[in-house]
Order: sequence, then structure tokens, then C-alpha cells
Amino acid sequence: MENAFSDRINDVPKSFIREILKVTIDASIISFAGGLPNRAFFPVKALQKASNAVFEQAGAEVLQYANSEGYIGLREQISERYRKRDGLDIAPEDILITTGSQQGLDLLGKTFLNEGDDLIIEEPGYLGAIQAFALYRPRFHPVPVGEGGMDTEKLSLVLQERSPKLLYTVTNFQNPSGISYSNENRKAVADLVQGSSCIIIQDDPYGALRFSGEPKISFKQLAPDNTVLLGSFSKTVAPALRLGWLVAPPGIMDKLIIAKQAADLHSDYLAQRILHRYLADNDIDAHVATIVAQYGKQKEAMIGAINDFFPAGIQCTNPEGGMFLWITLPETMSSMALFEAAIQKKVAFVPGTPFYVDRKDSNTLRLNFSCSDEPTIVEGIKRLAESIRELS
Ligand SMILES: Cc1ncc(COP(=O)(O)O)c(C=O)c1O
Repeated sequence: MENAFSDRINDVPKSFIREILKVTIDASIISFAGGLPNRAFFPVKALQKASNAVFEQAGAEVLQYANSEGYIGLREQISERYRKRDGLDIAPEDILITTGSQQGLDLLGKTFLNEGDDLIIEEPGYLGAIQAFALYRPRFHPVPVGEGGMDTEKLSLVLQERSPKLLYTVTNFQNPSGISYSNENRKAVADLVQGSSCIIIQDDPYGALRFSGEPKISFKQLAPDNTVLLGSFSKTVAPALRLGWLVAPPGIMDKLIIAKQAADLHSDYLAQRILHRYLADNDIDAHVATIVAQYGKQKEAMIGAINDFFPAGIQCTNPEGGMFLWITLPETMSSMALFEAAIQKKVAFVPGTPFYVDRKDSNTLRLNFSCSDEPTIVEGIKRLAESIRELS
């Protein structure tokens, strides 16, 4: 049967996280493994009301095929949020509604990558981006990210030696590490890329979830002709809507729309209309502020417990927003072995390995803090600390 499939699908591994999540279905396990937003904040009633209003006001129209670019009302709302929140002047016509930002990654792969093309990706990097791009069989060039952002020396080297078409970044509260690029780092990255044909993808599903620090400058301001922005409603409203967007310069947008049409004609029009109604009738800033206040407390609880219970010699990022933090164990300790030990104590996390394009094991791991309350976080970190001690 193996011969029946394309090389492209045979070469891409199953999502490791989905495999891990199967283990954590057991309700007695404290799971820091998932990457889900907290369902307590899904605006169930408000979306129900918006849905009723859409059906009452627009009837059959919202059940018809629609245009590939997306509902103009929703694109106008996104444009307005960029203006208000980020001081960015982005016309609704430069926005393409996508089926989650995950589809944005696929459309970019489709539009830019031939087999063997060079692509720069953060290390560690978002697993879903590695998977989406891998289908187009590029040559991955991982460039490390650490506190403060991307390793610009390594970036400069790759840019000199290869001609990468894409540079994939999550500059705010990165998945998996929680780190953010500083303004200086963003400027240095933009300086290196500007003038080349490399496109910076700034994937920003977490940017609105800031609980401390100051908002940072966008690549759209620093290198506008070389930047594509990806956004998402998954973490601010609800992921099941599967609605995100993409902002691209006009020359690139034309090609992306062809890719979009070939992929699915358009994103769910009914969902777009419901979301548009919801955004028109509700204060999304107040809603996001509620989420941020809770995630901020949960992050503090996790950092506090790590400081209290983890043995010395373990490093941990301290994110200013988002849903994840990143642990670096002593060099000789395997996070895969720790995963096995931790499951015995009924606590789960994601080992760092799948966030690298070329590693079989690692001494790093990702912890999610958005889905557990503070007492559960403290108990889970205690158990994890015991597992680390046993393995040491
Ligand atoms: C960095 C990053 N990009 C994209 C996505 C996909 O999000 P969406 O639900 O918008 O497809 C995720 C989801 O977790 C993510 O962490």
C-alpha cells in the first residue's frame, strides 16, 4: 500500500502532538501538553445570538457560495483592528480570509515552494508550520531563537550561503518557547532580509494575548515589501470557527488567491458572517482582556511553582503573553525519557523533539498554561519536579 501514496505524504510524519494527546485523554492526567485555548472563555451565548441574527437578517444568502477573498465586512473589521491596535495601515483589499492561519501556511507553501527550495524556520519552531511546509519538500534551514529573538549571525550566514524564499517567524510569545523578538532583533532581522527576495512570514496568533511588557514593532513596518502577516481568531474568539487571515503585498496576493481557490474556493461563509456579527455587537477588546488576565495568573502560578519545586540547573522562559513556556533540562537529560517518567506520575507535556526539524531527542520541553487552573498547575509542576529528580 505504501507505493500508492505520494512521496510528499509518505515523508511527513503524523502530528506527534496528536499522538501524545491520545495518552492524555485519561482524565486523571494533568496535561500541560495541549495547545488549546481555555474553553471557559468561548463566547457561547454571544456567538449563538450572532448566529440567530445572521440567519434572521440574511437568510439564504449566507448559505450560498461566496468570494474567495472573504467577506468584506470581516476584512474591514480586521483592517480597523490593525489600525487601532498596531498603528498599521492595511487596506481590507490586502487581507485574505483563510481557514485558520494553518491554511495560510499551506497556501504560502503552495505559492512559493518548489521541491528543494530553501526555507528558514525558527528553532525550536511551530510544529504545524514544519508539517505544512514539509509537504512541499523544501530544504529547511533552522535558525535558533532564544530570549530576545532570532540568532542574527546564523541568519546572516544562511542568507549569504543560500537563497531562501521564505523565513518563518512567530515573533510574539512563540509556540513552542513563549519568547518574543525584541525591537532591536526585529530591526536586525528586517535589515538582513530587506533587498533580498526572501519573504518574512510573521505568524501572530498570540499577539493579542499580552499580559506584560510593551507591544513590539511589526515586520510590516520594517520590511513592508518582504512581509506576509498571518492572523487568527482561534485564540481570541474560538478555534472551531476555523477563521484566520493573511496580509500580503498585491503582487503576492494575486497568486495566493489562485492557491486559495484551488484549495477550498472560500472559507466557511456562514462562520465569517457570524463572526462579523459577533465582532460588531460585542467588545472584543474587553473579551480578550478577560482571557489575558486569567492566562497571566496561570503563567505566574506555573513560574512560581517551577521556582519553588524544580531542582537547580533547569532553565525556563518567562513569556510576556501567549499560552506556553519552554524548559531546558540539563544537557544529558532526555525529555522523551522524562515524558515516560512523568506519565507514570500522571502529568504530561510535549517533549521538545518535534519542534526541531532534525532531532531524534532533546533536553527541552513545552508546557502549556492556558488550560489548567492555578492549584492544578502547582500540583502538576510538583509531580514534574519529582519525575526530574528521579531521572537525575
Ligand atoms: C504559531 C501558530 N501558528 C498557527 C496556528 C494555527 O492556528 P489556526 O487555528 O488559526 O489555524 C497555531 C495553532 O496553535 C500556532 O501556534
